[in-house]
Amino acid sequence: MNIGIDKIGFYTPHLYVETKELAVARNIDPGKFTVGIGQEKMSVPPITQDAVSLAANAAHEILTEEDKQQIDFVIFATESGIDHSKAGAVYVHELLGINSNARSIEVKEACYGATAGIQIAKGHIALNPDSKVLILGSDIARYGLNTGGEVTQGAGAVAIVMSTDPSIMTLESPSTYQTEDIMDFWRPIFSDKAFVDGKQSVDKYLSFFQDIWKVHKQKTELELKDFEAICFHLPYTKMGQKALKAVIPEGTEADQERLLANFETSKQYNKIVGNIYTGSLYLSLLSLLELNTNIEAGARIGLFSYGSGAVGEFFSGILQPNYKDALHTAQHETLLAERKEISVAEYEEVFEDIVPAGEPTIELPVENDPAPICFSGVKDHMRQYVRKDG
Ligand code: COA
Repeated sequence: MNIGIDKIGFYTPHLYVETKELAVARNIDPGKFTVGIGQEKMSVPPITQDAVSLAANAAHEILTEEDKQQIDFVIFATESGIDHSKAGAVYVHELLGINSNARSIEVKEACYGATAGIQIAKGHIALNPDSKVLILGSDIARYGLNTGGEVTQGAGAVAIVMSTDPSIMTLESPSTYQTEDIMDFWRPIFSDKAFVDGKQSVDKYLSFFQDIWKVHKQKTELELKDFEAICFHLPYTKMGQKALKAVIPEGTEADQERLLANFETSKQYNKIVGNIYTGSLYLSLLSLLELNTNIEAGARIGLFSYGSGAVGEFFSGILQPNYKDALHTAQHETLLAERKEISVAEYEEVFEDIVPAGEPTIELPVENDPAPICFSGVKDHMRQYVRKDG
């Protein structure tokens, strides 16, 4: 049975800051951010966007009425969730009008969560071939003003519909995964910002990739020559480049050239959006699929997922005939082109503008946010959302 990715949606807020402006404000050489880290723009979420509204906006653009009837499982992956008990998936299920005979859950393991969702969906569809599953990877990356991680912030969501006989990519088996209990990045319950040991997170990402790649090659007998491209979780684009460069000497000159060129394509969206945690790997896949001009159906794409804490996984997929027709490239071009640049001072103001904890009732200015779906406030401690299109 062929199971895989049938649709991919994406949403990022309408505000961004240039990382070179951020560097100047922080007394840092801009080259460190644009070349050393590899980030050019950073999406900034207004108070009217949270993980739920970002996810709903990402899915909103791709779902037809037929999809809403066929989806029987909504899996919401996030590490910036809005409730310790109720799943973000339940809010999205309601906002999108998905049929009531569906399961809706939230999964968590740092930036790995959406990959867990994809593998759960694969198993679910294998048992229920008529099913479609909606997987949402949605996050706001927050490290804090003037911190080492600040330039690697961002916000956005990716929405993936999985089914049998998918239009974009079938997923192959087996995949290879690994877990190790480490404290490279975490966010205690009381904090709205991540705690991070940046150097450890980079070292662990690299050692996870190399260890998993070694086991995957033994298990599958696949080598670099068998991959048209490898997409990486991209907390910042230099991170994936470091990982690719660690294994690339294994390939021929042609392999190296192809994989490096396709990596360039796969980082374009991430470079101008920033880290979106759980969705980052799939934003990179989207960048590769939408922006490449020469990758043909039948090509194998490798995917490396890493979630601090830590869990990693490597798996692959095969592109399907006419996969480009199933993409929403023009919408994403418009979404990214119509964003508004804000100054560092404005970004700092937006960053500090958060819903005060414990406030029972708040109304938020949704009229300032062009998104179709917004977080509109809190009523008796219950979060409220609006769909502006009715
Ligand atoms: N021009 C070009 N490159 C420059 C430069 C300049 N003027 N100044 C510095 N650099 C390069 C450095 O040489 C380094 O390159 P390298 O990694 O290839 O050696 C890179 O910029 C980063 O510099 P570094 O001093 O290591 O940055 P940092 O101490 O500020 O930390 C992170 C970077 C990623 C660790 C930090 O942003 C962070 O903690 N981010 C959040 C966690 C994260 O994203 N982890 C990733 C794994 S999940």
